[in-house]
Amino acid sequence: MSRHATGSAPGKIILLGEHSVVFGEPAIAAAIDRRLEVSLRVGGEPAMPSDSRIERAVVLAATDLGVDANDLSVEITSDIPPACGLGSSAAFSLALVRALASLADRTLSAEDVRRRASRVEDVFHGTASGVDVAASAEGGVVWFERADPPRLERLRPGKPLELVVALSGEVRSTAGPVSRLRARHAARPDLYGRFFRLAGDLVRSGREALTSGDLEAFGQLMDAAQGLLNAFGVSTPTLERMIGIARGAGALGAKLSGAGGGGAIIALAPAGGGTIVRDLREAGFEAFPTRIDRDRREDEDDRSNRRSA
Ligand code: MEV
Repeated sequence: MSRHATGSAPGKIILLGEHSVVFGEPAIAAAIDRRLEVSLRVGGEPAMPSDSRIERAVVLAATDLGVDANDLSVEITSDIPPACGLGSSAAFSLALVRALASLADRTLSAEDVRRRASRVEDVFHGTASGVDVAASAEGGVVWFERADPPRLERLRPGKPLELVVALSGEVRSTAGPVSRLRARHAARPDLYGRFFRLAGDLVRSGREALTSGDLEAFGQLMDAAQGLLNAFGVSTPTLERMIGIARGAGALGAKLSGAGGGGAIIALAPAGGGTIVRDLREAGFEAFPTRIDRDRREDEDDRSNRRSA
């Protein structure tokens, strides 16, 4: 008899604090309204997407949960643009662990799911801070600090957040910018240590602004964070151009989101939305609005895993 299970998880954006979070400073991240679903079947013809990292991730996660990866048929469906800094690897890792747990009839605590998914995510990104998995696992808006165990807290923005995401179309990986910045820090630890502390201060101020609903201040902190990300060497001329277009179209703030080196920007839209999406599209970029649901919890989402015989 064939058995079937699915798991799903959302993509993410980093509102403030990417990169400095790797060095122990806090970050604020949020789940977005785009999802990835992993569908697993045993008892039929085994099949695996033809990507060696996905294959390694499946073997790792399956072995971890006592499931034989050789028997599995794995299917992935997603509306999260891949390799853009929008957390598709973290969403895949979580969705996979959720689907496997359901297939193996195991009930895992939220922390256990996150821990296992973070190990799987390392197959894609080397040693990630865990912020992507945390945002995707939790849903809504989260405060994250890398530690063992990570410090994870839900934040409730004082006002709803309307954001625009736009994609640069540049080929990128997360590991590249992270390891280049690590090398810069190793060469000049005092200078980069100060940069990272300043980035952390922006995140701490961002928390105040966000939770009190002062979106203008939050937007200015996003702009300041972008200045630092530029100094880290992780922005690109195309990202800078897109950020300029978003600001010119009325954004309260705009910055790259994720590792940079290409990938995505996010812009905080003013009341009424402004013309950010239109202007970015007219300049040839893929852009879409995303709503951050400040009250949503991932673990209340009955779509996050299902099983059937
Ligand atoms: C990637 O979304 C965020 C980075 O800070 C890397 C990480 O935290 O693992 C660039």
